[in-house]
Amino acid sequence: FSPPRMTRALFISLFSCLVAINQASLISRCDLAKLLHQEDLDGFEGYSVSDWLCLAFVESHFNMSKVNEYADGSSDYGIFQINSHYWCNDYQSHSENTCHVACQELLSPNLLATIHCAKKIVSRAGGMKNWAEWSIHCAGRPLSYWVTGCHM
Ligand SMILES: *[C@@H]1O[C@H](CO)[C@@H](O)[C@H](O)[C@H]1NC(C)=O
Repeated sequence: FSPPRMTRALFISLFSCLVAINQASLISRCDLAKLLHQEDLDGFEGYSVSDWLCLAFVESHFNMSKVNEYADGSSDYGIFQINSHYWCNDYQSHSENTCHVACQELLSPNLLATIHCAKKIVSRAGGMKNWAEWSIHCAGRPLSYWVTGCHM
């Protein structure tokens, strides 16, 4: 029994634990590709899994718990950065709540609520152009490399 060594071991496991917690908000590119494919997004409204991956990357860098607050009081939620002013209810600011969902549910690691809401958004006029970042960084570009190496 050696107290200093024990303390060091404790600190190392505590540190690994914190790193694990922090990374729990991230989903890997291919895990996301597989889930999007399972949820029938490949081809939905004419957009491929690559489009969705590019969208998720430019919006959140695959961070499922990302929240971004704006000066007008609304916030963007989750991997697709869905806005509380139009799509979900954050119980803080006025919301159309078109997806009929609490914004917090859009942060769930199973991604089902956020995928359901994203389908509703992309079904609107303009499709993925409803996400400004997709128009800027993904539209009209070759995107197939996003699914390279992923088994769907
Ligand atoms: C994910 O987003 C949350 C909330 O915005 C942030 O606290 C967290 O640090 C982010 N995680 C990573 C790994 O960037």
